[in-house]
Amino acid sequence: MTTGLGWPEVAKPAVTRVGWPGTTEVGGHGSQPAPERSVSRETSVPATAAIAAALSEVSRETISESEPALDAEEPTAAPASAPRDWPLPRRTRVLTVANQKGGVGKTTSTVNLAAALALHGLRVLVIDLDPQGNASTAFNLDHQASVPSVYDVLIGDRALNDIVVAVPDISNLWCAPATIDLAGAEIELVSMVARESRLRRALATVSHSVDYVLIDCPPSLGLLTLNAMVAASEVLIPIQCEFYALEGLSQLLANITLVKDHLNPELRVSTILLTMYDARTRLADQVAAEVRDHFGELVLGSVIPRSVRISEAPGFGQTVMTFDPASRGARAYEAAAYDLAQRG
Ligand SMILES: Nc1ncnc2c1ncn2[C@@H]1O[C@H](COP(=O)(O)OP(=O)(O)O)[C@@H](O)[C@H]1O
Ligand SMILES: [Mg+2]
Repeated sequence: MTTGLGWPEVAKPAVTRVGWPGTTEVGGHGSQPAPERSVSRETSVPATAAIAAALSEVSRETISESEPALDAEEPTAAPASAPRDWPLPRRTRVLTVANQKGGVGKTTSTVNLAAALALHGLRVLVIDLDPQGNASTAFNLDHQASVPSVYDVLIGDRALNDIVVAVPDISNLWCAPATIDLAGAEIELVSMVARESRLRRALATVSHSVDYVLIDCPPSLGLLTLNAMVAASEVLIPIQCEFYALEGLSQLLANITLVKDHLNPELRVSTILLTMYDARTRLADQVAAEVRDHFGELVLGSVIPRSVRISEAPGFGQTVMTFDPASRGARAYEAAAYDLAQRG
């Protein structure tokens, strides 16, 4: 028996998993290899280099100041039908999307990367760890206070399997929603036993295999983000191509080092994603160059452009991947997800 949404209940191993072929533990630590499985190879991913080239070719003089002009600008990408190889990770990859600055594109990147991976046949679980529940909103999921949520898992005794719901219209994609209750969790966790590893423990009880777990963090370095870092083996840091982009990064990196040294030796910054790149400004180039200088190969080749379509999508309860798959923003996220998968 399943929850009706394709998310099998825990402790019921005799489940008939329609489109859910394997049963392995989720978790950055000690996960078993994913079962043999083929992923659809027919995709329309623009080459990373092509995107970068297209972005740099955009003439600063000829583009009008209105943002739609940016969206109208299509990169000269690889042919839409070019087959691509989206590899399965050898074991579940658990990525924490963190940056204590607000508004840098954590949620936008989490939901769009997750959607892009899922649309290419990879199984993805998103954990919404921000009390604002923006990832839940983008997936068009109920997240008013009464909905069973991550709060009930972290503070109560609910199993993660019980609260996970399927994301409408995108197969292979599930989400553990957040409600406003989670705002109290930062304080309630303080007095709890093993307060920093409650998410990790919850994740270890998930009774079937997913290829990716993406955790969308709140804009702080409190106990929620700490739980995410203890549960993950990789950190993905979105960096906005704006002034002050690098401010606070050293504090974030210092925290990651502390977690690695004391709580989770597997943790590493695996990925930096440049977001909200505005080809009309020299500043964006400067920030991007500085970030590449500093973080080298950790920085994904694909850069996410500032795009009206990306910012409009959540208002329609959608990711840009389904809202406007042909837009520059969607294609950039698809290319970034492809890069991410290649690095698995
Ligand atoms: N590439 C982009 N182009 C335009 N707007 C964006 C882009 N990425 C994010 N936004 C918008 O910026 C705001 C902050 O993004 P969000 O992902 O919520 O940041 P965070 O989760 O880090 O607080 C949102 O309104 C979002 O729609
Ligand atoms: Mg957010």
